[in-house]
This record gives sequence, structure tokens and C-alpha cells, in this order.
Amino acid sequence: MRITVLSLFPDILRGFFESSIMKRAVAKGLVTYELVDIRDFATDKHHKCDDEVYGGGAGMLMLAGPLGRALEAAGVRPKGEDPAEGEGGPARAVFVTPSGRLFNQTYAQDLAAEGHLVLIAGHYEGIDQRVIDRYVDDEVSIGDYVLSSGEVAALVLVDAVYRLIPGVIAGESLAEESFALQPEGEGAARPSLLEYPQYTRPALYASLRVPEVLSSGHHARIVEWRLREQLKRTLAYRPELLARGELPKEALKLLRQITTEGGNNEPHPEDPGAPAQA
Ligand code: 6GU
Repeated sequence: MRITVLSLFPDILRGFFESSIMKRAVAKGLVTYELVDIRDFATDKHHKCDDEVYGGGAGMLMLAGPLGRALEAAGVRPKGEDPAEGEGGPARAVFVTPSGRLFNQTYAQDLAAEGHLVLIAGHYEGIDQRVIDRYVDDEVSIGDYVLSSGEVAALVLVDAVYRLIPGVIAGESLAEESFALQPEGEGAARPSLLEYPQYTRPALYASLRVPEVLSSGHHARIVEWRLREQLKRTLAYRPELLARGELPKEALKLLRQITTEGGNNEPHPEDPGAPAQA
């Protein structure tokens, strides 16, 4: 996948592309990227990129001219014109804005299938609507709050998307995580649950012990403990997720225990070594 990000502050973006998993994806040739400084496409001597809003109102707006030229240079064509065939094929132009459609995992999967993503990171009060009308395919918001730097939102999108490209992340960790789409197949859609708590060494940290069941070697009980924790967490933080689809029978049973008994965290009767619950 080719990723182009247009920004007035490309330095905010650079560290992300040069670090960690993204760095490796780039080294493997799974991702190529360009960070484009929109200011380079201003034509006046002050490299002006913003101006006041027609009709009045607070703040400044990004100018159509420089942004439009930056988009064209990145391979984005005005809608209705023949797509430019640059590296990665036709570009999909995405504007990250709090006024966009809400981003989620399904959206990320859709974008991960593209050959060339061009993201516009907005600043100030936004961008001239005519650039959106002329070039932009998607307007995407990452949540119901306001950021001052569209770069941060653009990186959220990039991170959610590129890690879905085959080869970037090991397959197993993708399948296990929250919000991963359930495998297609028989039966009703399953709701996505939040992830269960996880622990690593040492077994004792600041007088806090790793739950005994996790080192019991009793696989079935570990599976059940994890599912119960997922349900407790989802019920506490994201109850609306539970309504999206049908829980499997064993999950429903646990959920009933949790809601009627306030959570069954009792040691398993077959586990003599289980410590009393705090
Ligand atoms: Cl995409 N951009 C900005 N600036 N703020 C946001 C956002 C995007 N999504 C939520 N808040």
C-alpha cells in the first residue's frame, strides 16, 4: 500500500513512519509513504495557506489552491476525470475531520484494500468546501471530540489501516483482538467483546498477584475465565456492544451469572490452590 499524507506540519507525522512496526513494514516493502508539505504548493512569497471564512465566524480556513495542487501532485484527480495511474493505482482521497463519518474497524478494513490512500490532515477551522467537493472521496472522523491537529487523527487512521495489510502483523494477534470481525460462516453474527486482562512476569508485582488460574495449566478454565472477564469489561465499558449480534450459549450463561451475582470470581471448586479473592 502507498500512503500519502498532506499536512501543514509533516514533522508531526514523520516519527510515526520512522518507528516501530511501521518502520518494519516500510523496510519490508509492504508500505511506501510520502509526507507532503501543503505549504510547498503555495504560490505567493509568504506561502500563505489559510484565510478568513466567508460569511464571518471564528478562525481561519485552509485555502483551496495550495491543497488542490498538493492533491493533484499526489495523484488525486478531480472527480469525474480519468484517475491518474500512479504507484498503487488510483488514489482514494480521505479528509480527516470531526465532521466526517465515524471511523471504525470495518471502515479500516475497507481502506486497507486500497492501493493508494491520500489523507488530508486539516488544521484551523477546516478546509474550503470546494476542495472537498472536487477531490475528496471520504470524510472521516475518529470520534466525538475535537482535536486541533488533524495529523493526530490522520495517524490514527493510518495505524488502524496499515496493520491490516497481510504481512505487517502476525495473523493470530489480528484474529484475537477486540473488534476483529468474526469469521464468516454458519450461525448468527457474534458481538465483538473487549479484550480480557493480560499479565506477564513477574508473578508478584507491588503485592499484586497474577490471577492463579492463568498459571494453572487448566486450559478450559483459562478460556472460561477470559471469556468472563471479557463480558465483565464489555458490560462495564461498552454495554451497547453486547446488543450487536447473538452471544454463544456459554457466554450468555456467564453473562447471567455476572449480572445476577455481581460477577462470579470465586475460585473454581476444583482448584485447591486458588487464593481468596480480594
Ligand atoms: Cl478526523 N480531526 C480533528 N481535527 N478532530 C477530530 C477528528 C479529526 N476526529 C475527531 N476529532
